[in-house]
Amino acid sequence: MTEYLVAPSTHVAGAVRVPGDKSISHRALMLGGIAEGITEVRGFLESEDCLATMRAMRALGVQIEQTNAREIRVRGVGRTGLKAAAQALDMGNSGTAMRLMTGLLAGQSFDSELIGDSSLMKRPMERVATPLRQMGARIETASGKPPVKIRGGAALGGIRYDLPVASAQVKSAVLLAGLYAQGQTTVIEPAVTRDHTERMLLSFGCQVDSAHGEIRLTAPQRLEACSLEVPGDFSSSAFFMVAGSIGAALLTISGVGINPTRTGLLDILGLMGADLRVVNHRSAGAEPVADIEVRPAALKGIQVPEHLVPLAIDEFPALFVAAACAEGETVVTGAEELRVKESDRIAVMAEGLTAMGVSCEVLPDGIRIQGRREQQVFAGGTVDSHGDHRIAMSFAIASARARAPIRILDVANVATSFPDFPGVARAAGINVVTSQ
Ligand code: S3P
Repeated sequence: MTEYLVAPSTHVAGAVRVPGDKSISHRALMLGGIAEGITEVRGFLESEDCLATMRAMRALGVQIEQTNAREIRVRGVGRTGLKAAAQALDMGNSGTAMRLMTGLLAGQSFDSELIGDSSLMKRPMERVATPLRQMGARIETASGKPPVKIRGGAALGGIRYDLPVASAQVKSAVLLAGLYAQGQTTVIEPAVTRDHTERMLLSFGCQVDSAHGEIRLTAPQRLEACSLEVPGDFSSSAFFMVAGSIGAALLTISGVGINPTRTGLLDILGLMGADLRVVNHRSAGAEPVADIEVRPAALKGIQVPEHLVPLAIDEFPALFVAAACAEGETVVTGAEELRVKESDRIAVMAEGLTAMGVSCEVLPDGIRIQGRREQQVFAGGTVDSHGDHRIAMSFAIASARARAPIRILDVANVATSFPDFPGVARAAGINVVTSQ
């Protein structure tokens, strides 16, 4: 099993660039696949999760050429041009791929089946199946979990759906099915969630209206191929925002997507006293981009405002490391969604923090962490990432404040979102080496 060995990293500083955005790369493959014409994508994230979506779209009859690691050309087959796959589509570790594909496949004329790895096969899928069935789709899950079986030929109708959880994946699945539904599809969000699907649909020439938490589209709509530029993934840069805040000197992260539906961590770290400066604002098509300068700061513990939770949902493992290095207590609540990510991120982070001598208390919907503003907060030792990429990377950056080496188990899944994490991390002074 692949593991990381990370020596105490006392010189975290420098300049890094993170790879392309995972959420946007998935969507580029799916929307490009059902568009008319060739969609060119620059900055594509060639990670295991996105490669699972690429393989699935190919299996459905879409030709995709990869000109180099970060550039692809998707030959769209048009809205009704997908063909039945010869076998079940394997979405690997990716919840986003499985949930969005369920929405895309719900309105097709053929049957499909979606499967995944052992983590994905345990994740809840009724959250997408329920609204899609209300639209007329015929979908079966195994007691709420994958495999997801979709019967083709269902006539879908638009619905008005109040999301019970703030989930961009559920919103996106309903909107993708809405492209195949008769009439208007409306999704109402209980809180703001990432809006990459809406922005990208606009780039493909679709009409989507968003206002006051309601997102609306009316089918049928033609998707016109376009050129897309994928910004650096804010969620991958989060590890360096925390590393720089607990590190030695200035750390610059360049080319980061700063879509405001993703940047809750900037606000949370700001409340904790971090010194983060967002500079050199520009755009990558429909998405805003900037560079982020991070300087070491004396962090203090806070109660994380619940309204920021959906805007930072993937960043909590990294944030917990910052909280351990902050003076006083940090409390996170309203984050029960963390329990159904690639792992139960509350339980798994608590286990690792405790193993390294950080005192914390698990709450049903969050965690309470007692931070210490000391140079060597983490005792070192062995932690198990339970195959969760973001947990593995979070404990790697803890080395900036570790007394002894940290051995992190089961890290192969880092390649699902950040294939060259060890190389990029070393450029920032994080002493990580991989061993098999
Ligand atoms: C994602 C949405 C979020 C996020 C996931 C990616 C997306 O999940 O955690 O990593 O690309 O739409 P939820 O929609 O379940 O919150």
